[in-house]
Amino acid sequence: MSSLKIAVIPGDGIGREVMPEALRALDALNSRHDLGLKLDHFDWACIEHYQRHGDMLPPDWFETLKGYDAILFGAVGWPAAIPDHVSLWGSLLKFRREFDQYINLRPVKLMPGVACPLAGKKPGDIDFLVVRENTEGEYTNMGGRLFGGTQREMVLQESVFTRHGVDRVLHFAFKQAQKRGRKHVTSATKSNGIAISMPYWDERMKDVAAQYPDITWDQYHIDILTARFVLSPERFDVVVASNLFGDILSDLGPACAGTIGIAPSANLNPERNFPSLFEPVHGSAPDIYGRNIANPVGMIWSAVMMLEFLGEIQPSCTTAANELMFAIEKVLQEGPHTPDLGGQASTTDMGKAVADAL
Ligand code: NAD
Ligand code: IPM
Ligand code: MN
Repeated sequence: MSSLKIAVIPGDGIGREVMPEALRALDALNSRHDLGLKLDHFDWACIEHYQRHGDMLPPDWFETLKGYDAILFGAVGWPAAIPDHVSLWGSLLKFRREFDQYINLRPVKLMPGVACPLAGKKPGDIDFLVVRENTEGEYTNMGGRLFGGTQREMVLQESVFTRHGVDRVLHFAFKQAQKRGRKHVTSATKSNGIAISMPYWDERMKDVAAQYPDITWDQYHIDILTARFVLSPERFDVVVASNLFGDILSDLGPACAGTIGIAPSANLNPERNFPSLFEPVHGSAPDIYGRNIANPVGMIWSAVMMLEFLGEIQPSCTTAANELMFAIEKVLQEGPHTPDLGGQASTTDMGKAVADAL
């Protein structure tokens, strides 16, 4: 059996607290199933890498990482020391772009054992997949400042929507819907206010949807879509959105399903030309860092998504992914729970409970 090379980047803040809990589970599975996972660790983060080297990544980061099968990522950002746009454009957003991880897959699910803040909703009522475009759209560093420092000062920030970029994420969303029970895709846009890119997205949606007659679809302006997430989440199956709208929906969705602390994500290069990256949806949470109270499940569930992706090339990883998901479900149902879930357990308690449940 060949080995699978995993690059581990805990990052900043609670990334460093939740990563060990994912590694604890992976270690147990690696030896039990002979997965052949080979983990290498990288300390690329604001604290202390940036402070020491003046950059988030070393100059040879691309060459260093490109041969890996996957990247397991915690979270990056320490705004008290480094502006967020500097640290994020210097690391995570670079990985997404340069490794062409054009899909950001973010499942949203109300899990048994997790209290739902929405009245009357039970597990099964919230179970959808946000498919977020991950390399273009509103996330650009193109634009600039004119007449700086004067009363006429103005800034321009461009958005980019290419036919290639829009079509490939829409196709991916429809193919995901084909694998799911409800076979429905919802598109998020804002074509009343944003007069060029969003009507273009709608036009591509209509064209691509026509190629999937087995899948029903609809579209909403993002403003009313956020209201529908809260009022009637059961109507959603696959939700496809641009980079920014997908970002917003993938925090709102998990909040509707109880906590952002359990939400996982997969930044995929589906063609496997480059490594894909697996990370929790949440960030480095400086407000709770150092207290050992962060929920580790978003990180551990991201490791499940990594194993599922690796399972397509090494089937024993699929078995390991199923076992790890089962262990997460057990702990969500029975505890122990971190404070975001209403409990008093520590990050370590909860991570150990998942590993013990394996
Ligand atoms: P955040 O997700 O870090 O935190 C938002 C809120 O959710 C905080 O109150 C935090 O305590 C809570 N929270 C987050 N994860 C939790 C967990 N696992 N368990 C319990 N509570 C949890 O978002 P933010 O405050 O907007 O950003 C903080 C920093 O993280 C910034 O530098 C930001 O740019 C960065 N960030 C990085 C990523 C990433 O690396 N993927 C994602 C989002 C934000
Ligand atoms: C996420 C994060 C990132 C994003 C930030 C940190 C740049 O919020 O992964 O959701 O906006 O994509
Ligand atoms: Mn986000």
